Amino acid sequence: MRISVIGCGYLGAVHAACMAKLGHDVVGIDVDERKIAELSAARAPFYEPGLEALLEEVQETGRLTFTTDMAAAGGRDVHFICVGTPQKKGENGADLTFVDAATIGLLPYLAPGDVVVGKSTVPVGTAARLSSLVEARQPEAHLVWNPEFLREGHAVSDTLLPDRFVYGVADGSEEHPAVLVLDELYATPLSNGTPRLVTDLPTAELVKTAANSFLATKISFINAMAELCEAAGADVTRLADAIGMDDRIGRKFLQAGIGFGGGCLPKDIRAFMARAGELGADQALTFLREVDAINMRRRSRVVELTRELCGGGLLGKRITVLGAAFKPESDDVRDSPALSIAAQLQLQGAVVTVTDPKALSNASRRFPELQYEQDLDAATQNADAVLLLTEWQEYRELDPHVLKETVAIPRILDGRNVLDPAKWRSAGWQYRGLGRP
Ligand code: UDX
Repeated sequence: MRISVIGCGYLGAVHAACMAKLGHDVVGIDVDERKIAELSAARAPFYEPGLEALLEEVQETGRLTFTTDMAAAGGRDVHFICVGTPQKKGENGADLTFVDAATIGLLPYLAPGDVVVGKSTVPVGTAARLSSLVEARQPEAHLVWNPEFLREGHAVSDTLLPDRFVYGVADGSEEHPAVLVLDELYATPLSNGTPRLVTDLPTAELVKTAANSFLATKISFINAMAELCEAAGADVTRLADAIGMDDRIGRKFLQAGIGFGGGCLPKDIRAFMARAGELGADQALTFLREVDAINMRRRSRVVELTRELCGGGLLGKRITVLGAAFKPESDDVRDSPALSIAAQLQLQGAVVTVTDPKALSNASRRFPELQYEQDLDAATQNADAVLLLTEWQEYRELDPHVLKETVAIPRILDGRNVLDPAKWRSAGWQYRGLGRP
């Protein structure tokens, strides 16, 4: 099929490459010239495992091109809206400027039978509004909502083989003409067993925000348990293992630590609360305020624990922070808890050095006042305390005996509870986990 993908960020760039991999003829469109130049040269403008290899592979077939010119959407049958919906400045709601601009920019190029597919995460009600814009301009085109559930770091495999497809269509019916189009588009993953659900537009929009809210709640639940474990002298990692064995609960997303960050969960739960308020249903989501508060409390807790670990004062203490990205296998530092903790420590007088395998250039743009060091040995040299805040594999595998040679004082705070306390303590380290004795 001939398709256009509007917006070539984390979502759109991966989606465009994956659609080409599935055999479609794809043009990726974005207003950012630098991004388009990078993608046209088969270079990923951000770090995502497997993306660059995939870009090279599909560009050789000639099925994937990129441009800044919206007119390239003309003559194509399916148009994906993949632009960002960041948090509004100074407010909880989502900023829909880019979604509106992408849809309005596309209108002149729509032909009868075209399908506009919304993938961005939007407040419920947006799809119906955009649908009327599309219909007013091209009554024989359709707008559907097909939320994306990809995780950064696994974006390629999540797109090629998702857990499920949700098709939101105006009448919520299997007979809607766009259903056949999407089935054809996703024929390969569907034939590999990916289930699909057809819903109405608001349900499809809500599926995405509900899923992210549930994940955020699960993380904050275990972090609340970590607070309790600390007060009671219990171990939250064993508690999570034990409750996770109940398959109604499950162990996934029960990793207690410094909490969630990134470009999705924090802003999505806030936008959801804001939208519920507009709909007069704010009481239904007041619990998300607590989910958010528990999450933010993790960051201040780590600052306090670091102060304790350093003997009661942070002033002049040399602290090494391992990890700047909001999660491993990503260079994304949007709302990264690791960086926010590093900045807090620095504000309170510590001398902070941050290291990360991939995220340092993004981190230094976000927090230029921090000191960055790519080399792990150099970063940990003479440290008074080491904080593991993003669980990259190379940090999980650190040898406590080797690391002890470079630091000034062997103290480690394991902000993701991924190290073996016994191993570190027996190597002579003062070890602190979160919610662990
Ligand atoms: C999330 C959703 O998982 C995805 O389905 C949606 O499409 C976009 O938002 P992502 O932001 O890539 O994806 O990251 P995710 O893997 O969900 O992690 C989010 C944050 O939670 C990270 O900061 C991670 O470190 C943290 N986390 C995750 C925990 O603190 N504990 C856990 O048990 C799991």
